[in-house]
Amino acid sequence: MDLQWRLLPLLMLLASIFILFFIQDSSKPSRKDCSLLPYNHFWIKSKRIVTPQGIISGAVEVNGGNIVSIVKEEDWKAKSKELVDYGEAVVMPGLIDVHAHLDDPGRAEWEGFPSGTKAAAAGGITTLIDMPLNSFPSTVSTETLKLKIEAAEKKIYVDVGFWGGLVPENAFNATALEALLLAGVLGLKSFMCPSGINDFPMTNTSHIKEGLAVLAKYRRPLLVHAEIQEKSELLSEGENGGDDPRSYATYLKTRPPSWEEAAIRELLTVTEDTRLGGPAEGAHLHVVHLSDASSSLQLIKEAKSRGDSLTVETCPHYLAFSAEEIQDGDTRFKCAPPIRDTSNKEKLWEALMEGHIDLLSSDHSPTVPDLKLLSDGNFLRAWGGISSLQFVLPVTWSYGQKYGVTLEQLTQLWSERPAKLAGQDSKGAIAIGNHADMVVWEPEAEFDLNANYPVFIKNPSISAYLGKRLSGKVLATFVRGNLVFKEGNHAPTPCGAPILAT
Ligand SMILES: *[C@@H]1O[C@H](CO)[C@@H](O)[C@H](O)[C@H]1NC(C)=O
Ligand SMILES: *[C@@H]1O[C@H](CO)[C@@H](O)[C@H](O)[C@H]1NC(C)=O
Ligand SMILES: [Zn+2]
Repeated sequence: MDLQWRLLPLLMLLASIFILFFIQDSSKPSRKDCSLLPYNHFWIKSKRIVTPQGIISGAVEVNGGNIVSIVKEEDWKAKSKELVDYGEAVVMPGLIDVHAHLDDPGRAEWEGFPSGTKAAAAGGITTLIDMPLNSFPSTVSTETLKLKIEAAEKKIYVDVGFWGGLVPENAFNATALEALLLAGVLGLKSFMCPSGINDFPMTNTSHIKEGLAVLAKYRRPLLVHAEIQEKSELLSEGENGGDDPRSYATYLKTRPPSWEEAAIRELLTVTEDTRLGGPAEGAHLHVVHLSDASSSLQLIKEAKSRGDSLTVETCPHYLAFSAEEIQDGDTRFKCAPPIRDTSNKEKLWEALMEGHIDLLSSDHSPTVPDLKLLSDGNFLRAWGGISSLQFVLPVTWSYGQKYGVTLEQLTQLWSERPAKLAGQDSKGAIAIGNHADMVVWEPEAEFDLNANYPVFIKNPSISAYLGKRLSGKVLATFVRGNLVFKEGNHAPTPCGAPILAT
């Protein structure tokens, strides 16, 4: 046979390998588009790197998206060109926000994955876990989770995981719940009061008990909105001497601390099951956005000491604001449970500093300005939810100064413990082998959150933080080694990854 003919199959093989390689390569965004830094292997240097072993001066070596070494200043020998020296700026693990509503698909005009994750990156958040509601449809089945993942794919600037919904429709159907967990939700979320969203009905303790039994097998948590509707002492509008719906005090009266206390008291009748040897051992219950720092918190403390697998979060707005300062008609501050008085705020800080509150989350829950009724100012009719995603780091730092919050505490509250709750073993700490998810920021740098400040959330006018002066400026955010945000700019392509539990 002619040599030419013998070479032909080989040539065809080579050509197809080449074509395959080319197709694969072009379907992936190039590294250049995912990161504002041209390196795959590089060093981040700083005088203040927050590690689980304390704050060190030195460098973090990043290769292929992971942290591969951490060296102290005195051991620093490498003279790499691929070095970013941040001087005195703090290098911390990226924040992990376990409670955000990005409202996508279905209500992307409220926020959406692109703007929400851009805001997250600008705020030093490298992972967020999206709530199963306020999007449409709610994430309560494998089909609706698929829609969620499709909405997120190629549109996220940070890593995004998903909670699924525990609702009456699926709570007694272990097959449906297992399918949802197998499809990758990191855990479930349920409400003990109306959620405000029609396709996300509330659950009672029977539903919660069933949910925990299934979650136990997968060792994933149940997050619960703990408020139970009781008869309120509010006089309805129009009644003689009815309460003024524009007054914050009126709104506060509609959701007293006893709502939280009643819900937690009921919850604790099922969290017993999560104790070692209990029927739901392996499951975990997490109380979201605690506002009541008195009886509710006391009940949680007691249950923890009895061995229930239980944690609790609070949010920056409960730590920054108090009822006394909220002006009549300023519905930007409406959320549930409500922001309570100054003495409650002080107690929340105390609990946080003493470790009784385990972690922080944003509960970023935006909407369109129309539904906030900003001009009307009716607290009873306005959409409830605080818009905060981009600001949570400077807010907790600024308002925490008075209480002596430290960088190490911020790291525990915003990274280490959230990573644990969401089952993200490779995130939440600057440690060898972990994802290179980091925020670089200047705690001492002050700024006014005014019209000139670059804000990336979709509807900035509804944020309660606008107009505040804060300290703590984010300089850079790394997600899996990609520099996704730097001084007001994002990488050209969103290369965050959807996180699915396996
Ligand atoms: C339970 O859920 C599965 C999967 O969604 C569904 O096929 C089945 O009909 C449900 N069972 C009941 C009794 O509703
Ligand atoms: C919870 O609601 C279900 C109906 O969805 C009902 O069968 C059950 O008895 C209720 N449990 C409690 C404790 O109220
Ligand atoms: Zn929420």
